[in-house]
Amino acid sequence: MTLSRICCIGAGYVGGPTCTIIADKCPDVTVTVTDLSQDRINQWNSDNLPIYEPGLDEIVRRRRNKNLFFSTDVKKAVIEAELIFICVNTPTKNYGLGKGRAADLKYVEAAARMIAEVANQSKIVVEKSTVPVKAAESISNILKANQRLGVQYQVLSNPEFLAEGTAVNDLLNPDRVLIGGEQTKEGREAVESLCWIYSHWVPRENIITMNTWSSELSKLAANAFLAQRISSINAMSAICEMTGADVTEVAHAVGTDTRIGNKFLKASVGFGGFSGFGGSCFQKDVLNMVYLCECLNLPEVAAYWQQVININEYQKRRFANRIIESLFNTVTNKKLAVFGFSFKKDTGDTRESAAIYVCKYLTDEGANLRIYDPKVTDKKIFSELTNPLMCEDPERVKELVTTYPDPYEAANGTHALVICTEWDQFTTLDYSKIYQKMLKPAFIFDGRLILDHEALMKIGFQVVTIGKKLQRSNVHRSFSTSSQS
Ligand code: NAD
Ligand code: UDX
Repeated sequence: MTLSRICCIGAGYVGGPTCTIIADKCPDVTVTVTDLSQDRINQWNSDNLPIYEPGLDEIVRRRRNKNLFFSTDVKKAVIEAELIFICVNTPTKNYGLGKGRAADLKYVEAAARMIAEVANQSKIVVEKSTVPVKAAESISNILKANQRLGVQYQVLSNPEFLAEGTAVNDLLNPDRVLIGGEQTKEGREAVESLCWIYSHWVPRENIITMNTWSSELSKLAANAFLAQRISSINAMSAICEMTGADVTEVAHAVGTDTRIGNKFLKASVGFGGFSGFGGSCFQKDVLNMVYLCECLNLPEVAAYWQQVININEYQKRRFANRIIESLFNTVTNKKLAVFGFSFKKDTGDTRESAAIYVCKYLTDEGANLRIYDPKVTDKKIFSELTNPLMCEDPERVKELVTTYPDPYEAANGTHALVICTEWDQFTTLDYSKIYQKMLKPAFIFDGRLILDHEALMKIGFQVVTIGKKLQRSNVHRSFSTSSQS
């Protein structure tokens, strides 16, 4: 079955880019992306898109108001569409049953109820948000319990695997597209309709179809595996520091085994997360998996996945501690420049960014922070750092934190630089110039292992990182710690 009209509920990091690519690749299909937030929709309709994603602006401009529309009229778009993507947020629940672990499905449920309320013809409803296994069944139950006469629903699972910062390329060249549906004639027809959309640009053999529950679980499994690799190499980094091994060398040696592979282990860019993984997905989805296992009465399996989170927390804490130890055990009233605030390069997204944790730790110790990020707005930085869930004294944070539009200005007169995000531009800054304007001894804490440490030491910097045994010659030891090197 071919389709002529589709809509998307949720114009965020997934809904916006995914539907833009669909509109570009399927010019005969009208795509309407909707959101309750007028602000977000206004931005999608402006020159200043609500998310930074390399290459996206151009494609939006090419399709917008031709076959790609952004609107807050969610109901109208739903009534008109034959197929509806649900791309709303599914954050970790911060209240009630499952607090801190379960996915909060209230936005998914509200979307399903709204569809049931307004739909006057049959619809294919596609769950693209990441959800626990059996969420499609709940959506289906809500739709069917409220369906009007003559209206039929098919609910599909079509999880999204794009990563932020590379979303356009990931969407254009996906390793696979996953579609789960009911194993009935109607279910298979609905799956075929969605396959038809993707087959405009994705080779048919890369479109995998399966039952709904496998599809839902595969998404959680993929993110859990990826996060687990990062926690595994981060755990290795702790061993490296105690033994004289170098984690980049270990990662390289391990990754050249074709059975293991080098991605999400690699030194430099790939293996950037010495300060722990961040982003809106990994922590949330692994916690979601932990909760699922607990609900299924599988405590050993739950504990296994929980440990992935524990190591990530440990890694972030270790990095923040290392900063304080190296700065002679106190950062109170010291000036520190923080380079990078987003959770990874090429995105302005700060959700669960390791930088938030590091900055909180440092401001709790009374450090003055001078933050520079090429894409994160001042407003976003302050809203993260004064978020009531983690900040007790927002006024104090505002006193201690200043944002800068330029990295050289941010570094001027500071005791230390802390690299929190692996933005490419940080590798090409003039560090001699920066060094001259810093207080001495001048420290660099490379949380992403992206800089040329030898060159920096030649300039005169004290370089501190994680995953290598520290050299007495290049790192000032703290007064209280003595044994590491
Ligand atoms: P997001 O917060 O950027 O966007 C969600 C949008 O949905 C928001 O703009 C919100 O206003 C809107 N919304 C919520 N309820 C609504 C409703 N009833 N009607 C209309 N709009 C509504 O979230 P995101 O990062 O795009 O993630 C969406 C889903 O995709 C999540 O389940 C996430 O786990 C999953 N996912 C995210 C990524 C990623 O890289 N961000 C990748 C793969 C999967
Ligand atoms: C992730 C998944 O990769 C994607 O498939 C899913 O759809 C959404 O969640 P995203 O969070 O956007 O994507 O970015 P990703 O590149 O996976 O990075 C997540 C975090 O892990 C970042 O903080 C990154 O710095 C860190 N990371 C990544 C590492 O610490 N080490 C690595 O080797 C790779």
